[in-house]
Amino acid sequence: MPTRKPFVGGNWKMNQHGAEAVALAEAVAKKFTATDKVDVAVFPAFPYLAPVGQALAKAGSGIKLGAQDFYVEPNGAFTGEVSLSMLKDVGVKVVLVGHSERRHVIGETDVLINRKVRAALDGGFEVILCVGEKLEQREAGMTDCVNMAQTLYGLGGVKPEQMARITIAYEPVWAIGTGKNATPIDAQSAHWRIRDAVKYGVFTGGEKGESIGNAVRIQYGGSVKGSNAAELFAQPDVDGGLIGGASLKADEFVAILDAAAKKQ
Ligand code: PGA
Repeated sequence: MPTRKPFVGGNWKMNQHGAEAVALAEAVAKKFTATDKVDVAVFPAFPYLAPVGQALAKAGSGIKLGAQDFYVEPNGAFTGEVSLSMLKDVGVKVVLVGHSERRHVIGETDVLINRKVRAALDGGFEVILCVGEKLEQREAGMTDCVNMAQTLYGLGGVKPEQMARITIAYEPVWAIGTGKNATPIDAQSAHWRIRDAVKYGVFTGGEKGESIGNAVRIQYGGSVKGSNAAELFAQPDVDGGLIGGASLKADEFVAILDAAAKKQ
């Protein structure tokens, strides 16, 4: 079994203005320096990518700058959109794709999500592909089916050599921002099936498919806090987390990062 370095992302969503965003990045960079043990990325809103990136660089932090969204075309008449090369200009290394708020609030389809995954990989970025079932799908016994299908759609056409830059975030929609968690056992079970989808669905098994599936990191997301991170991260297939609300407070986010650092 490969050792998977934990990876924790702080998805700030449409929160934190100007000086607040910079101060949050500075505080996290100061309080958490063990990026040799945990990969860390923060995802500020577009207008603050550049100042947050500058603050992280000035602090000499290994925390990566991430973007919450982008458009697949390289340039042109796409009013309101931001291209990958623009993100590269301001130092973005990681992008989120398929977050449930983009799927279910903004209306992104699996087809667009797959185009985004492939465009970002071709552009040299790391990608966090988010998947997760809605409450009614869980209640109908469709959890694994939804997660595996979103994984297959999202990763269709991705080349084996690009998989080292993919992370999957399992985020049950009913757990995002609600204070409700998947139990550690439910999270483990979903992660295990998502890993199977990578091994035998995206790639067709054999030694290669299995080794790619065993190496891919799968984060859990959905109401992770300092108080519940350790038990979630203790599960064998939970390789860190994607954190929303709790990433907006430096101490709370750092408590989660410390929990991830203890996983190895
Ligand atoms: P939450 O959000 O931690 O506030 O539940 C997680 C996410 O949407 O990535």
